[in-house]
Amino acid sequence: MQRSFEEVRSKLALALDVDDLVVATRLARQLGTYFSTIKVGLELFCATGPESVGALSNLGYDLFLDVKLHDIPTTVQKASKVLGGLGARYITLHAFGGVEMLRAGVEGLSEGAAEAGATPPTALAVTILTSDGGAPEHILPARLDLALRAGCGGYVCAASDLVVAKRLAPDLFGVVAGIRPVGAERHDQTRAATPQEAYDNGADLMVIGRAVTGAADPVAAAEAIFTSLVIGNS
Ligand code: C5P
Repeated sequence: MQRSFEEVRSKLALALDVDDLVVATRLARQLGTYFSTIKVGLELFCATGPESVGALSNLGYDLFLDVKLHDIPTTVQKASKVLGGLGARYITLHAFGGVEMLRAGVEGLSEGAAEAGATPPTALAVTILTSDGGAPEHILPARLDLALRAGCGGYVCAASDLVVAKRLAPDLFGVVAGIRPVGAERHDQTRAATPQEAYDNGADLMVIGRAVTGAADPVAAAEAIFTSLVIGNS
């Protein structure tokens, strides 16, 4: 069954894993047809700070700030308060930090947003990195439980974790990273899945980075992934 362009676009986030706002802005301008959301990761945020959040939001994207906070609860609360006022729609915290840390992050984001008159970002708990192929089976349910108890609005996981995650936390927003079209280079993603697998498993948002940004022609690579999802083929 063919899906609508807007339905597919609403589920696609472009990971702009570059350390240069000029390069990031150029890619963002080229790829808006296919992606509703821009993910600012550690390189870009370390290089440019909050400026990248404002600049890329101004292009009309939802902003996903992927900083995976992981520290003592007080520090995470204070950092989250700063980040909560920037206007991002999603912000990541590492579930490995425990329930008190996650809760502190959720509270900090709300406080920061309230002070700035902004909508609070959705706190996403990173469950298990998609580069981590060795996590025992009990880790995913345990980290989802932390996310639920802390009041996070969603989580990040691998596509293969989604079936369990959707059963255990049906009301949370499920973000999938480690997406690779069939035959694409996997890089450091040991638990990669195709866009179609992630979609079929119920991903609410799919993060795509190097499969597009590392391609010789990023627009053609994005178009191919997008079209495959609209048609419903891998
Ligand atoms: O290039 P690629 O599509 O592998 O991009 C993956 C992006 O998703 C990176 O920015 C990485 O930090 C992020 N990420 C991940 N695995 C997670 C959470 C986030 O790869 N579990």
